[in-house]
Amino acid sequence: MTASKSELYRDLAEQLAGLLAGETDLIANAANMAALIYHRLPDLNWAGFYFRKGAELVLGPFQGKPACVRIAIGKGVCGTAALRAATVLVPDVHAFPGHIACDPDSRSELVVPLIEGDRVLGVLDLDSPDLARFDKVDREGCERLVALFLEHHLSKYKYFWEQSPYNS
Ligand code: SME
Repeated sequence: MTASKSELYRDLAEQLAGLLAGETDLIANAANMAALIYHRLPDLNWAGFYFRKGAELVLGPFQGKPACVRIAIGKGVCGTAALRAATVLVPDVHAFPGHIACDPDSRSELVVPLIEGDRVLGVLDLDSPDLARFDKVDREGCERLVALFLEHHLSKYKYFWEQSPYNS
């Protein structure tokens, strides 16, 4: 099971690289990445981005039900990951103080920050209706996907990122 999950993430990384190749548009690429994750990973009810604007995270491209638009840095699971500049894996959201329930069906959550040097640019958020849906393989797999996305936009198309409305 774990081996096949690792294979799935290897596959996803290849597909993401293919989707990003040659495309500079941040919104388009983030939207396709959210769709890829949502439709290829089983048992998710939400997958998408929040981008940092000042002291808040603002909703970006996603798949799933409509979600809260603004989250203060330090609030909820997303704001906590942004504040710590570290991935946060929550096996049971009901046991996480301050969890923001955008969708009452969500039971577990994985949030990976988008980091450039000492700045947090946003987060990738995955929600599941299943308890303890995410493990170390998911965490490492999603961190790899985020690293690919950042490498694409920061290294290759840095010029574009610096002009994006998300760069505050
Ligand atoms: N549950 C998140 C809020 C975002 S939604 O899940 C899409 C949180 O606690 O930060």
